[in-house]
Amino acid sequence: MSHAAARHPIPHGYAKAHVSPEDYRARYAESVKDPETFWGREGRRLDWVQPYTRVKNTDFTLGKVSIRWFEDGVLNACVNCVDRHLPARAGQTAIIWEPDDPAAPARHITYAELSDKVNRMANVLLSQGVMRGDRVVIYLPMIPEAAFAMLACARIGAIHSIVFAGFSPDALANRINDCGAKLVITADTAPRGGRKTALKSNTDAALLHCSDRVRCLVIKHTGDQTTWVQGRDVDVLALMDQVSPDCPARPMGAEDPLFILYTSGSTGRPKGVVHTTGGYLVYASMTHQCTFDYQDGDVFWCTADVGWVTGHSYIVYGPLANGATTLMFEGVPTFPDPGRFWAVCEKHKVTQFYTAPTAIRSLMGQGPEWVERHDLSSLRILGSVGEPINPEAWAWYDKHVGKGRCPIVDTFWQTETGGHMITSLPYAIETKPGAATLPFFGVSPAVLDAASGTVIEGNGVEGVLAISDSWPGQMRTLWGDHQRFEEAYFQQYPGYYFTGDGCRRDEDGYYWITGRVDDVINVSGHRMGTAEVESALVAHPKVAEAAVVGYPHDIKGQGIYAYVTVMNDVTPSEELRRELEGWVRTEIGPIAKPDLIQWAPGLPKTRSGKIMRRILRKIAENDYGSLGDTSTLAEPAVVDDLIDNRMNRG
Ligand code: WTA
Repeated sequence: MSHAAARHPIPHGYAKAHVSPEDYRARYAESVKDPETFWGREGRRLDWVQPYTRVKNTDFTLGKVSIRWFEDGVLNACVNCVDRHLPARAGQTAIIWEPDDPAAPARHITYAELSDKVNRMANVLLSQGVMRGDRVVIYLPMIPEAAFAMLACARIGAIHSIVFAGFSPDALANRINDCGAKLVITADTAPRGGRKTALKSNTDAALLHCSDRVRCLVIKHTGDQTTWVQGRDVDVLALMDQVSPDCPARPMGAEDPLFILYTSGSTGRPKGVVHTTGGYLVYASMTHQCTFDYQDGDVFWCTADVGWVTGHSYIVYGPLANGATTLMFEGVPTFPDPGRFWAVCEKHKVTQFYTAPTAIRSLMGQGPEWVERHDLSSLRILGSVGEPINPEAWAWYDKHVGKGRCPIVDTFWQTETGGHMITSLPYAIETKPGAATLPFFGVSPAVLDAASGTVIEGNGVEGVLAISDSWPGQMRTLWGDHQRFEEAYFQQYPGYYFTGDGCRRDEDGYYWITGRVDDVINVSGHRMGTAEVESALVAHPKVAEAAVVGYPHDIKGQGIYAYVTVMNDVTPSEELRRELEGWVRTEIGPIAKPDLIQWAPGLPKTRSGKIMRRILRKIAENDYGSLGDTSTLAEPAVVDDLIDNRMNRG
């Protein structure tokens, strides 16, 4: 990525855009100078049962971090995503569902039908004893029932926590137990790319490690045979037919939790990020509308999975709060062929397409002919999320998918931030390939010196990215552990929310995200804590010690590189390598499988026993010429062996 990257001017001739260049400047200035007025006005984009009188009450002071928005307001998120669009949009499609199998029929769910399904599912939850504040774990594939389940929880004030369907039974059990879920909603099996994942049997395995009071609600999606535990398992669709289609929505406080979403941090177990009702929904709605310039009649497609935050904010909550038509895709970009994304865009006349750089890179490798055989003239705006987009992928996306006429929004944000933080806005902020560009309304970025924490002013500077004031979509706490929340995000640089990312502010004041500066890696846009993979590896009886780092990977962005020290009486072998790969798959899930495993007789440690990850990263990057100072190592010879046997010689 170079500073000199070409500028991509704002396309002309689009007069209707939600934000113009002048608007952006004026409204941004107001949003950071007078957030009360700015957000007080924006909050009214939602319907409130009882309007708020207090807009912002936030404090980043270590020891008393507290984040509250619209705190005395009362509302219901489901009403805002469903009921309030009736009757005007009753016949409009809310959700287009495209199944894995291209020959199977797509579903078009209108707002009226959405309302019916969500009310029924809410009544099913009530019939199972779910009450306000209870936690419900959702372990579902990309089917409309996942959205129904989220909204049904919101309707009755239950807190949902979605676990990505690619996670293993162990990972599912840990999350069920951590949040103390009363029930889990799953499906029989999940087809993806022509293959099926046995979600129900995964759930059965997970529930062996949970309280026997946890109930299991099953969506019979494929109709495949599964085991059935009488008294515990419930057939959701059958019950939905029996219950009433009316379920009163529970009035909720703006600061009542809406959902918990587990994400990886640099240390320890996954963290339960808590988002609340009012601020999150205002922010998801506004970012969806402005970043994608969503207009009535558009068909919006975010290719993420609902198991990640991107799916929460930009498949379900943002679009539905805006009365949009949102597309949900069950499959993968390469099934039945690498033209599937474009076939779906053509079939459903998609206007906004939002995906991850890793998907673009993998499709780029298949050649442009897969794109060119489809009519993509409906596309108006393209988006990117999850990791920095390299200029080659950007240029390919622009040329072959956008035909040079669709603005590309590169959206930087995190599970913790609820919605976009730094992004261009179509027709308002001119882009540069690889730059996230400028902050969204209400976001105050600061570039800090990593070591001292001092603010680096001016342009043409580099450091770490922190945010100096709160915005409505910010996470409020970690489930059950407010102290860990403060330590993880506010301790390192007092007075700031620390993103964990490095960044550069160029000569024009544009922000370029340079990647994580902590022990979090980003594999195919999926966030992974190296500590999680390490603890899975050392749980294997033949492993004595393990250290995991990321390394540059052409398609995935980063790959997982594991250094493994085996027990004294064990001889490393190909068979053991495969065994460890399989082991990590079962402990966490397929996305955590190491790409490279190097047998390490020893790991480089300081005399106090701390693993020197900096050195391991360099060797994994095949950049061992610049190892820096190794004089503090307890056994410098260890490094020579690691270099000689390095796995990445590319
Ligand atoms: C990275 C995903 C560069 C970043 C929404 C962040 C990005 C982490 C971008 C959050 C982008 C996300 N450019 N890097 N446009 N978007 N990231 O929580 O390192 O799964 O901290 O949220 O992804 O990942 P998460």
